[in-house]
Amino acid sequence: MKTSRATEAEGVPWVRPAVAALEGYVPGEQPAGTARVVKLNTNENPYPPSPAVRTAIEAEIERLRLYPPPDAAHLRHCAGKLWDVDPAGVVVGNGSDELLVLLLRTFVEPGATVAYPAPTYSLYSTLIEVQGAVVHEVAFPPDFDLPRGLFDVPAALLLVCNPNAPSGTRIDTAALGELARSRRDAVVVIDEAYADFADGDALSLVGSAPNVVVLRTLSKSYSLAGLRVGFALTTPQLARELHKVRDSYNLDRLAQVGAMAALEDQATFRRNRECVRATRARLRAALLTRGYDVPPSETNFVLARSPGRSLLGLMEKLRFEGVLVRWFVALPDALRITVGTDQEIDELLAALDRVGPA
Ligand SMILES: Cc1ncc(COP(=O)(O)O)c(C=O)c1O
Repeated sequence: MKTSRATEAEGVPWVRPAVAALEGYVPGEQPAGTARVVKLNTNENPYPPSPAVRTAIEAEIERLRLYPPPDAAHLRHCAGKLWDVDPAGVVVGNGSDELLVLLLRTFVEPGATVAYPAPTYSLYSTLIEVQGAVVHEVAFPPDFDLPRGLFDVPAALLLVCNPNAPSGTRIDTAALGELARSRRDAVVVIDEAYADFADGDALSLVGSAPNVVVLRTLSKSYSLAGLRVGFALTTPQLARELHKVRDSYNLDRLAQVGAMAALEDQATFRRNRECVRATRARLRAALLTRGYDVPPSETNFVLARSPGRSLLGLMEKLRFEGVLVRWFVALPDALRITVGTDQEIDELLAALDRVGPA
């Protein structure tokens, strides 16, 4: 969701025009109160992270007096080993959101174009505008496959969210490889925030195509949205340039050790992932039974559509029932519902049945 601004910068003559013209990104609601809500609006993982994260963070507290390792070398090695990427090609960030900023800063001159399939993660346009660059949205076809328009649109950087949010759908890796090979004039960024919940990923393109950057995050599949850790996986050459524009201490000590502990506990990660995937199948089936169109999801959320109707009112009714889901201006006939625990999904379905059909 975006706020309208236009006149808000009046009386602030010092602000850059690109910022004054900006519509601010509004993240999903994070309720502050103590009232229990069923929170299915921001794609957080409903299960706790590895218990090893707490142990690692507690042990690190005594070292908070010292700056964190600026190169995050241990964490980068750990990530490189897990995803089979040269650690010299790994850049860590304060969430993958920060890595998006670093990518734009490194590869996109003000005035240059960044293209991406839409609708997608709505933060992209905000960050591109902050950079003073030009947003070029290429509409997804109805099945959310790779839009052919991306092959010839002039752009310094192409951004593909895969699996995509909010559709939940995934583009085949072969098609992304073809895009990267045919677009040597651009950096091709594949945002894999949700790839751990999918049936495939684009890691094989890292290093094999010199212009590809894959983004990963611990926010979803490792239950660590609050720790803020993301990874850019690319060639050592591109990583070297990205390192030049980041803050030396962009990942604090607690985040570095917590992230390492989470990556090393693959058993917890796999258990949580399988629970989410199983509940996702149950949620999708229940929504299909209730008459919604639901594209097959390879993420930790599903998109429930009711073509031709706005579901804004339904979102508000669910909110009144204590169930938070997400509605987007760009997809008014849909609700994006995060896969919660089985109990939370039961509560969502009961609320849906109470407030009536879409
Ligand atoms: C597609 C996509 N990319 C990136 C992010 C941001 O992830 P992080 O928490 O690592 O900044 C999100 C978060 O919702 C997302 O949906």
